Amino acid sequence: MAARHFLTLNDMTTTELENLVDHGSKLRKEWRQGKVRDSLKNRVLAMIFEKSSTRTRVSFEAGMAQLGGSAMFLSPRDTQLGRGEPIEDSAIVISSMVDAVMIRTFAHETVEKFARASRAPVINALTDDFHPCQLLADMQTYREHRGSIRGATVAWIGDGNNMCHSYINAATQFDFHLNVATPQGYEPDLELAKAHSAHVTLMREPAEAARNADLLVTDVWASMGQEDEQKAREKAFSNYQINSALMDIAATDALLMHCLPAHRGEEISADIIDHPGSVIWDEAENRLHAQKALLEFLILNRLD
Ligand code: CP
Ligand code: NVA
Repeated sequence: MAARHFLTLNDMTTTELENLVDHGSKLRKEWRQGKVRDSLKNRVLAMIFEKSSTRTRVSFEAGMAQLGGSAMFLSPRDTQLGRGEPIEDSAIVISSMVDAVMIRTFAHETVEKFARASRAPVINALTDDFHPCQLLADMQTYREHRGSIRGATVAWIGDGNNMCHSYINAATQFDFHLNVATPQGYEPDLELAKAHSAHVTLMREPAEAARNADLLVTDVWASMGQEDEQKAREKAFSNYQINSALMDIAATDALLMHCLPAHRGEEISADIIDHPGSVIWDEAENRLHAQKALLEFLILNRLD
């Protein structure tokens, strides 16, 4: 049987995604109770990082260890990947020795190429275009705090980036409405937005997007690889900060999420992480639980 991959949320059905989110919550509860689980005993995850990470690396590595397996960190600096060995050759070799491969890289095409040649499941741990693992954690966090997100209004404020694209996919898969407010020139991929137009509205004004929203979400103004654009982006995005004034426009019990790392004083005001609606720290912790659920699903082909 060909390996299942997780390159975008569209690699799963809605039912599979909902089951993953529920399983993540179950694993969180069990782990907090100190229950030992060795579902991935002797299994190995290879983790290829071509960009920096704190949460993704710690959550995947800790997650494998907590399930009885292990994870190996591979950087292009120390592997032949950094010296130009073809991605397909690397995929054939690495996937012949491990049970799953996680990749964080620049071009989305790189994970697609790797997956096509891989005999083991491949997980997209962020590309320039998508960050589906973060959405598993975000959806789990929303569900734990507010129940089903079906029919809710979510406001994305800021850059039409990889996270925004994954929110667009999530809007259709989890059946919520996504208002996306970006400055001109920083919209998400228009083809993608069009394909999801039944669930996505592109806007210019943050206040319009946030009005009565059940969840406000943002991300850094300059993503990894865009460091040179920082100054220009600070100017373009100066009205796109989530602060208490914007939270006041949202629904009274609105939640706030940010995938982190956060730039306080830029996309979010310094105080807002401590706002009563902020679930940012749960969201970060849920990377661990959601990905443990994902690893079990992809490696064992079941959730129980
Ligand atoms: N949110 C997220 O993916 O964080 P890291 O870049 O620290 O992995
Ligand atoms: N959009 C950000 C997300 C970081 C987790 C980036 O790509 O740098």
